[in-house]
Amino acid sequence: MLAIALGALLLRLSQALPLNSPLLHEYDYIVVGGGVAGLTVASRLSQDPDVTVLLLEAGPADNHELFVEVPGMIGDGIGSIYDWNLSTVPQTALDGAPRSVPQGFGLGGSSLINGMLWNRGSIGDYDDFVSLGNPGWSWDDMMPYFQRSENYHRVASLELAMNFSIEANMSVHGTSGPVNVSFAHWFWGTSAVLFDALNELGVPTAYDPNMGQIAGASFLPLSLDPVTATRSTARRAYYDPVADRPNLWVSTGQHATQIFFQGMDANDNATVMTSQDNPLGQGISSAPDIPGIFGGTSTLDVSHSGQAPTTLISRTLGSLLHWFRRATRRGLSPRQTNEAEPMVPARLRAVGVEYAANSRRPRQTVNATREVIIAAGAFHSPQLLMLSGIGPADVLQENNIPVNMDLPGVGSNLHDHGQVWTWYPYNNSAFSTPLEFINDSAFAEDAWTDYWANRTGPLTSGAFDGVAFPALAFISNGSTVIPDTALSQTASQYLANGTHSSVLLGYARQLELLTTALADPTRASYEIVNSNTGALTVANMRPLSRGSVTINSSLPFDSPVIDPRYSSNPIDAQVLLAAIRFNERLIATESLSQLHPIHMYPPPHATDAEVLQWINTHMQTEYHPVGTCAMMPYQLGGVVSPELLVYGTSNLRVVDSSIIPILPAAHLQAVVYGIAEKAADIIKAANTRPPIPTSFSFSYDPLPATSSASPTATENGEAAVVTHFVTVVATQTVYV
Ligand SMILES: *[C@@H]1O[C@H](CO)[C@@H](O)[C@H](O)[C@H]1NC(C)=O
Ligand SMILES: *[C@@H]1O[C@H](CO)[C@@H](O)[C@H](O)[C@H]1NC(C)=O
Ligand SMILES: *[C@@H]1O[C@H](CO)[C@@H](O)[C@H](O)[C@H]1NC(C)=O
Ligand SMILES: *[C@@H]1O[C@H](CO)[C@@H](O)[C@H](O)[C@H]1NC(C)=O
Ligand SMILES: *[C@@H]1O[C@H](CO)[C@@H](O)[C@H](O)[C@H]1NC(C)=O
Ligand SMILES: *[C@@H]1O[C@H](CO)[C@@H](O)[C@H](O)[C@H]1NC(C)=O
Ligand SMILES: *[C@@H]1O[C@H](CO)[C@@H](O)[C@H](O)[C@H]1NC(C)=O
Ligand SMILES: *[C@@H]1O[C@H](CO)[C@@H](O)[C@H](O)[C@H]1NC(C)=O
Ligand SMILES: *[C@@H]1O[C@H](CO)[C@@H](O)[C@H](O)[C@H]1NC(C)=O
Ligand SMILES: *[C@@H]1O[C@H](CO)[C@@H](O)[C@H](O)[C@H]1NC(C)=O
Ligand SMILES: *[C@@H]1O[C@H](CO)[C@@H](O)[C@H](O)[C@H]1NC(C)=O
Ligand SMILES: *[C@@H]1O[C@H](CO)[C@@H](O)[C@H](O)[C@H]1NC(C)=O
Repeated sequence: MLAIALGALLLRLSQALPLNSPLLHEYDYIVVGGGVAGLTVASRLSQDPDVTVLLLEAGPADNHELFVEVPGMIGDGIGSIYDWNLSTVPQTALDGAPRSVPQGFGLGGSSLINGMLWNRGSIGDYDDFVSLGNPGWSWDDMMPYFQRSENYHRVASLELAMNFSIEANMSVHGTSGPVNVSFAHWFWGTSAVLFDALNELGVPTAYDPNMGQIAGASFLPLSLDPVTATRSTARRAYYDPVADRPNLWVSTGQHATQIFFQGMDANDNATVMTSQDNPLGQGISSAPDIPGIFGGTSTLDVSHSGQAPTTLISRTLGSLLHWFRRATRRGLSPRQTNEAEPMVPARLRAVGVEYAANSRRPRQTVNATREVIIAAGAFHSPQLLMLSGIGPADVLQENNIPVNMDLPGVGSNLHDHGQVWTWYPYNNSAFSTPLEFINDSAFAEDAWTDYWANRTGPLTSGAFDGVAFPALAFISNGSTVIPDTALSQTASQYLANGTHSSVLLGYARQLELLTTALADPTRASYEIVNSNTGALTVANMRPLSRGSVTINSSLPFDSPVIDPRYSSNPIDAQVLLAAIRFNERLIATESLSQLHPIHMYPPPHATDAEVLQWINTHMQTEYHPVGTCAMMPYQLGGVVSPELLVYGTSNLRVVDSSIIPILPAAHLQAVVYGIAEKAADIIKAANTRPPIPTSFSFSYDPLPATSSASPTATENGEAAVVTHFVTVVATQTVYV
């Protein structure tokens, strides 16, 4: 009796594992980055009670701040304490100004600050992944993983479904996944009018936008809790429900500074030695005292940063329990033999991660016995690889970093959905728009009353909902000038001088796929990002421009050097010009003219040259950077294999948007959740067998050197805060 009671007590104690508990010296898996991908992977791997998982996140845990939770406040997270505040280098193909490139900084990553839109792109977008050398990544292959991540809730009523053309094909949705996906409790009538206008001009309304056939108007669901009408972040979905797992450690406020490889040289500049090392893994809290939506901190005590005695006890018991479980583990599955031979011998084995809270603190090391998973996003994942000696040899040498693996593709192939804001404000007062938050204080007050009383009203909506993904064919009256021009380009024509020959080969493959997509009447060429105010922002879904992420310092707390080279390929601006001309036809339709749109920007009667000039000064990110650790063959400038293993390593993976080789026509969160769910399965399957032997030698032929400078190497106050948001929209920065 006593034994049982004591056992129960021990078990209970051992399962209390608050955020930022003291760390162990080693883990089976270490995940670097606690965004959408990292939290998904850590959560799924720690389902196995026999393994230990550590996740390091550079930012803090959120405190349920209003600007995180309330959909009507989207936009306010940009430039907040949950944003890395990164900028690009001057964009010389545009007006020469740098552009800001928001990235989530905190547990949940960009799901804390994004526009919450939930879609996946089209079937062909994933066929393109396969065409680029990635068997197993087709639409059908991804479908179970898309579904695994979501808990889809239908729109509340048939009337809403009818009025806003919202249809759900439940056979493509998951209903028991972690992320709540649902519709706002408020619908701006202007969306329905826009859909009528699109239909009038021959752009159809797509059936369920998550079915893979998206060329048309689409009312998108949101990552939204259907009952509380609060944002469903990666932290709410994948961490909070499992925070008690005794085998999952999450430490916030910790930047990884480099990965260590067995027997290989380290980047000395990433390591700061001091005589007095700290105890392992004391995370930081989100410190700033901003009132939370539930009246302060809720279940998770994020202010905890010390070692309460109970924590230490529980930790010790937790470790004991682990040791015991591992010691009693039964036989392992037989080694799988049907795996494809790796193209590049796996010479490097990741054995540890070095990290620190900031540049002044001593670095600490934690060891990994199975795998290290980098999930730091499209800017920081390639940076961390380079800091760890994996990347283009010339870049590493310039920065005095020992070359552990010459991998020319690291940081290349950066691309994004470039977008430009346009402005035709609706002036018919019979239609409510989010602009009323600005000019009508009674509207804003009512909105907050509804929100607090019943979780209804305009604050449950994130302004953007009814969007469209037109094919170029819908808007060009039979003209094929744009795809024909793209077809006539050579691969090297608009890439940066000095692009490595393997990267050039990979781009040549992509260019064929992009040209095909631009000509395909069933696939989106661009998106109309409708904010319901008269901003019909247009964004390139098939960007041809490619840039890079690199480093100009071996110091890990220096920012990566980000150059998307927006509009360096002139096709991208041509697509947006056509889209803006189509906007002008849209606002002149019988349907849309009911809203009394005022033609403001680009100004009426602007010539093509003037509109192109407008594009030049206004093009910015749609917040969808990808491609910098591309999943493609090594010979095509790829960085990871279809199993997401970094070439040249046996146990280092990248799992995040950086592995996307070519952008799908979609907002990225649902895509990245799907990728990370698939990655978790891949990692679990790879580790049912004994660890790979740790020392062996081999040789391989390195790739040919970087192509010469010649680019022809190869052919081929609440209301006030809401007001701020709308003002931001109205002053040209649109967040989605
Ligand atoms: C990690 O492993 C290395 C080599 O086995 C060892 O020297 C080091 O002490 C370990 N670090 C920790 C924190 O246990
Ligand atoms: C981003 O900038 C804002 C405003 O200056 C600041 O409050 C925030 O701390 C910055 N974020 C980071 C990660 O430093
Ligand atoms: C649906 O549309 C009809 C006709 O325009 C309108 O009367 C009704 O209020 C709308 N219902 C909702 C829930 O938007
Ligand atoms: C629903 O989706 C399934 C799976 O993609 C498809 O087979 C079916 O045809 C779709 N139903 C409709 C009505 O489009
Ligand atoms: C999803 O929404 C339901 C209904 O409010 C809620 O009970 C559940 O906790 C939510 N799940 C997550 C992970 O937020
Ligand atoms: C360390 O970084 C500093 C500043 O970037 C640089 O001057 C120095 O050469 C670097 N040293 C090594 C060994 O990389
Ligand atoms: C906007 O509507 C108001 C009220 O109907 C009208 O007075 C004003 O002239 C309109 N503005 C424009 C630019 O059409
Ligand atoms: C606020 O602006 C909207 C859109 O311009 C307009 O329809 C409405 O009449 C304005 N309301 C007030 C109180 O000025
Ligand atoms: C909340 O809903 C209840 C029940 O439908 C209703 O009586 C009440 O007026 C609503 N409150 C607000 C502020 O709309
Ligand atoms: C397409 O045709 C319509 C009317 O037939 C015309 O108004 C529009 O300017 C044309 N658009 C393009 C892109 O040629
Ligand atoms: C590449 O270099 C040549 C010669 O210096 C220059 O004319 C060309 O504009 C450069 N191309 C790019 C894309 O920078
Ligand atoms: C590195 O690049 C950044 C821009 O990303 C710049 O601000 C900084 O001055 C550069 N540092 C060096 C040493 O070139």
